[in-house]
Amino acid sequence: MRLAANDLTFRAGGRAIVDGVSLEARPGEFLALVGPNGSGKTTVIAMLAGLKRPHGGAVTLDGRPLSGMHRRDIARVLALVEQQAETTERLTARQAVELGRTPHLGALSPWGTRDDAIVAGALEAVDMAPFAERLWHSLSGGERQRLHIARALAQEPQVLVLDEPTNHLDVEHQFGLLALVRRRGGTVLAALHDLNHAAMFADRIAVMEAGRLVAVGAPTAVLTPGLIAEVFKVAAEVEIGADARPFIRFARPALRAERRPA
Ligand SMILES: Nc1ncnc2c1ncn2[C@@H]1O[C@H](COP(=O)(O)OP(=O)(O)OP(=O)(O)O)[C@@H](O)[C@H]1O
Ligand SMILES: [Mg+2]
Repeated sequence: MRLAANDLTFRAGGRAIVDGVSLEARPGEFLALVGPNGSGKTTVIAMLAGLKRPHGGAVTLDGRPLSGMHRRDIARVLALVEQQAETTERLTARQAVELGRTPHLGALSPWGTRDDAIVAGALEAVDMAPFAERLWHSLSGGERQRLHIARALAQEPQVLVLDEPTNHLDVEHQFGLLALVRRRGGTVLAALHDLNHAAMFADRIAVMEAGRLVAVGAPTAVLTPGLIAEVFKVAAEVEIGADARPFIRFARPALRAERRPA
C-alpha cells in the first residue's frame, strides 16, 4: 500500500510547524524520516496516521483521501506506534496487545482462536511472551515500548508507521525491531534519530528541517557529510560499507577543559 502526503501544512503557535511537505512511502518500502528535534516529524506522522487534520494538503492511502475514511477502516490497514504513548488502565501485557485486534472485530467477526494466535505471535516477535501476564505498570520503559510495537503488529497492518520506535530499547532489541519490521514486508514509515539505523535499514531516507522536507532519496545519496553538518550541526565522516550502505562516524566535539586522568 502507498501512503502519500501531498503538500501538507500544519500550523500551531502562530507558525507553520509543517510547511508544504510532500512525501510518499511506496508499497513495500521502508522509508525513514529523520531530522532534528522540533523539525516536524511527529506532526507529519500524526497527519499521515489520521490523528491530526492538515491545515493544507492531503494524505492518501493508495490514492484514497484519508479524510474521507472512517477511523476503523484506517486502523484495519494502518498501525501507528506513537512516540509518547501511555496506557493508564490496569492491563496485562497480553491485554495491551489484544487491543491491536479491535479494528478487526465485530458482531460478525468475534474474537477467535486466530486472534489468540496473532496476539501470541506478536508477543513472541518482540520477545515479550514471558511477560504476557504481567501488569503494564510493572514493566520497564523498553518492555512497554516493545508491547506498543506488538500491539501494532497484532493489528496486521499493511502500513506500519513508527515514531522513534527504538526509544528505550537496548541495542539487541533496537536491531531486532528494525530487522523485524523490514522482514515482515509491507510499507514502513519510521521516524528515527539514529542516522546509522536509517542507513542500515531504510530503502530511502527523508530529511526534515524546520518544518520542511530538505532531502529524500537513497541512504548513500542523502547521508553525506555536507547534509549531516548542515541539518544536524555535527561533523561526520561517511564510509560506504561492503553492503553499499553508508556508515556514519561522528566526530567527537572538542571539549574545552578536557580532564586527563592523573
Ligand atoms: N500546539 C503547539 N503549539 C506550538 N508549537 C507546537 C505545538 N505543537 C508542536 N509545536 C512545535 O512544532 C515543532 C514540531 O514538533 P514535532 O513534535 O513535530 O517535532 P519532531 O520533529 O517530532 O521533534 P522530536 O525529534 O523532538 O520528536 C516543535 O518545535 C514543537 O515545539
Ligand atoms: Mg517527534
